[in-house]
Amino acid sequence: MRTITTINELRDVLRAERREGRTVGFVPTMGFLHEGHISLVNRAKEICDVVVMSIFVNPLQFGPNEDFDRYPRDIPRDSKLAEEAGVSYLFTPGVEEMYPSKMLTNVSVAEVTEPLCGASRPGHFDGVATVVTKLFNIVQPHYAFFGQKDAQQLAVIEQMVYDLSMPVTIVPCPTLREADGLALSSRNVYLSAEEREQALALSRSLRQAQAMVEAGERDVATIRDAVASEISQQPLAVIDYVELLQYPRLGYTARLAEGDRVLLALAVKFGKTRLIDNIIMNV
Ligand code: PAJ
Repeated sequence: MRTITTINELRDVLRAERREGRTVGFVPTMGFLHEGHISLVNRAKEICDVVVMSIFVNPLQFGPNEDFDRYPRDIPRDSKLAEEAGVSYLFTPGVEEMYPSKMLTNVSVAEVTEPLCGASRPGHFDGVATVVTKLFNIVQPHYAFFGQKDAQQLAVIEQMVYDLSMPVTIVPCPTLREADGLALSSRNVYLSAEEREQALALSRSLRQAQAMVEAGERDVATIRDAVASEISQQPLAVIDYVELLQYPRLGYTARLAEGDRVLLALAVKFGKTRLIDNIIMNV
């Protein structure tokens, strides 16, 4: 594995790889790697000859009162994990390399950015769309890999790539979970033992909701209420949202219909730690 910190050097090596006829797969991350990130690399290795991973904690996608400064970072540890996973090029630019001066350009996707995390985190998805566009322009991958853990982010990126005819194929990858159901996340390290135990209510409530839908429940409010009440039983949990929307357009619906593809998504705070989880269901 080769670690590269400048845009020019990465462009040079990838130009050579493409000239040799190799397909380039790209896994963008903010680091503090876990098995969820590694599962994207494994999927990339199945499809591509060369796997590029970026690690960049992108200031544009954090709000003023969010955790940009305390977001966990450990490049030496990440390098080891990326190399073991089979990453070919690890791109770890500094903020001054990515944003040497004030950014005057912003990529903004409408509608799919409005509900869920877009409502709770104003400007977040503009920051994501802008950095992913910039990274795509630097890496010029044939394929790029995104986790369904961040289902709204995936919907935003797919819409952006479609609308702007970006020459890349987006590959969605399933959410990786701990054996007890907790979705893997870099932010899980913030949780106390007690919070982590209570956080199991997130995946549990999603499974219960899925069972309700499978048993024939079609009323969206009933399903949302069941999820919210399961989570509210945890004394340390503060619900940000529980929503059931059409996927991937994220439109509201009051009743599920046969053939619908829907996203049940939630965000819950434990102290300062905000966790998200979701399930995509075919009704
Ligand atoms: P980050 O949170 O580091 O996530 C990087 C990628 O890993 C995303 O595509 C995310 O969906 C995926 N991922 C995270 N947890 C996962 C899990 N448990 N199972 C499967 N995939 C998982 O998402 C970002 O970084 C940033 O917003 C980024 C796209 C890099 C732009 O800055």
